[in-house]
Amino acid sequence: MARCLVRGSINIDEFFHVRDIVRAGETTSSSGIETRAGGKGANQAVAVAKAGGHVDLVGAVGKDGLWVLRQLQEGLGVNVDEVAVADEQTGRAIIQLAESGENSIILYKGANYTALETPETLPSASHLLLQNEIPFSSTLAYLFLAYSEGIPTIFNPSPMPTPDELRTFPWAQVTWLLVNEGEAVDLLKALGEPNITPFAAPEAEGLPKTPSLLTSYSVIARLSKHSSFAQTVNIICTLGSAGVLALLPSLSQPIYVPAAKLQGCVRDTTGAGDCFAGYLVAELMKLPKDMVLDEETMTGILEICVQAAGICVERRGAMESIPTRIEVLERLR
Ligand code: ADP
Ligand code: NA
Repeated sequence: MARCLVRGSINIDEFFHVRDIVRAGETTSSSGIETRAGGKGANQAVAVAKAGGHVDLVGAVGKDGLWVLRQLQEGLGVNVDEVAVADEQTGRAIIQLAESGENSIILYKGANYTALETPETLPSASHLLLQNEIPFSSTLAYLFLAYSEGIPTIFNPSPMPTPDELRTFPWAQVTWLLVNEGEAVDLLKALGEPNITPFAAPEAEGLPKTPSLLTSYSVIARLSKHSSFAQTVNIICTLGSAGVLALLPSLSQPIYVPAAKLQGCVRDTTGAGDCFAGYLVAELMKLPKDMVLDEETMTGILEICVQAAGICVERRGAMESIPTRIEVLERLR
């Protein structure tokens, strides 16, 4: 049976609604306060579960985060048996939301940076999903373990590792790299390509010839051929309202899928990338082991992911705005 292991972060997010973001020396009052479960690891684990996949989350919270674990386990279908309860506060984000729509965030890593022992094997995992909100050494240890056991790995390097970490990263151990456009550019620059010149893309059939899309394609095409990168990595690059581009070494052409047509307006894009990640992994989990993806199958997977992420941006919040599989399939009919 397919099971995804997520080794990642768990946070308590505290939202304050302010007129303007508070400045040094100033006191401002908040017209509302909301406390929600968050963290990219937890968000993506919830997205896998809502997409219908079995998922185990590995991470750490403090005693103040036990309610988060209960919510993940009982309300959202994520197995949290392997989450440690540490002698630290749960990771915390203090988020000011201004009337203009701007935000400002203070992030305290807290228990997410507790040293956890890496297991010797991953007996129950069929897929490994990683982000970058935990100790980098732990991300590397899990990646290596999964790779050596032949388990497909999905890496969403967010927030971006340092240029040094990126240059020496074991890319060959990554099966799927999931980045947004800004991250793709940063990654290429970190690997030593400072000039992101537009229009330098190799010929690609089937891509709409809009300048921004060709630029994005050029970035991931150059990334895929970079000497510090591995030729075997499948690259998925999300493009916000422009949709998604995929470059698979097994396919001769890139795949482009436009963003979903929204039913209503964009309310909150927070968590859209996490929603996309979870749906991507849940779809990959349904494929037969070692299947070589054809263009049609990959396109179908990305269509589900953009629909899920589209619903996510129509709703406020991160974790709570991730749709269920049934809601996504409704849109595709
Ligand atoms: P991240 O949230 O990680 O920065 P993106 O902004 O690329 O990632 O968004 C991820 C996905 O969410 C996109 O590929 C797209 O499918 C969907 N999405 C994001 N913004 C919009 C939007 N304004 N309209 C429709 N879909 C969107
Ligand atoms: Na949202």
